[in-house]
Amino acid sequence: MPLLRYFFLAVVIAVITVVGLAGLRGTAFHKFSRPPIELVPDMDRQAKFKAQSPSVFFGDGRASRMPVPGTVPLENPVENEYLSTGRMGDRWGAGFPVPVTPALIARGQERFQINCAICHGATGAGNGMAKQFGVTTVASLHQDRLRDMPEGEIFHTISKGRGTMGAYPHIKLEDRWAIIAYVRALQLSQNAPADELPENLRAKLK
Ligand code: HEC
Repeated sequence: MPLLRYFFLAVVIAVITVVGLAGLRGTAFHKFSRPPIELVPDMDRQAKFKAQSPSVFFGDGRASRMPVPGTVPLENPVENEYLSTGRMGDRWGAGFPVPVTPALIARGQERFQINCAICHGATGAGNGMAKQFGVTTVASLHQDRLRDMPEGEIFHTISKGRGTMGAYPHIKLEDRWAIIAYVRALQLSQNAPADELPENLRAKLK
């Protein structure tokens, strides 16, 4: 079958030619100083400004831009470790790094209803609207495990997400703490011992 033999020969010669000319540039097997041959331009090399370099495009001549006013930092390098991470050393901290006031709880209620209620429900029972649209793993906030969870760990859950819950780092730090204060209020609302009620309400209960 000479035809087949010629075909194989042609393939072998083609491979040797390509590897001979192009080498193994840009592959993981060989370290070449030269970039790989690109048939379609690669995004590694593109028109861009490097940090701190000049630019004639912007009026102030700088390529680096200041953040847009109102930008929310994802990681806030504030002094207070607990306020920004929920950690105290190598463990979750408990308590609030900001004063818990009626105003804070009211702010937390508003932020909770905007950010959390869609999944967790207005009372935190885990029955928000998203459940009807297939987000079935939403946790109820009224479980002993979450009642006992340190505030710092809840802060971390909001900031970084947990399991099937996404992260909400765009919520301002103080607002995250406000939300946690409101979560505590919700938890108390569903699980308050009767003898902690004021006299008149306790009478109503009977
Ligand atoms: C898009 C839906 C969604 C939103 C919005 C959402 N969560 Fe969740 N959350 C979940 C799901 C799903 C879980 C269960 C995660 C798991 O166990 O995998 C969860 C779990 C939790 C838990 C328990 C974590 C644990 O340790 O088990 C807390 C606390 C919590 N969410 C608080 C919040 C707060 C506060 C907000 C608002 C800032 C919020 N969530 C917004 C879906 C959501």
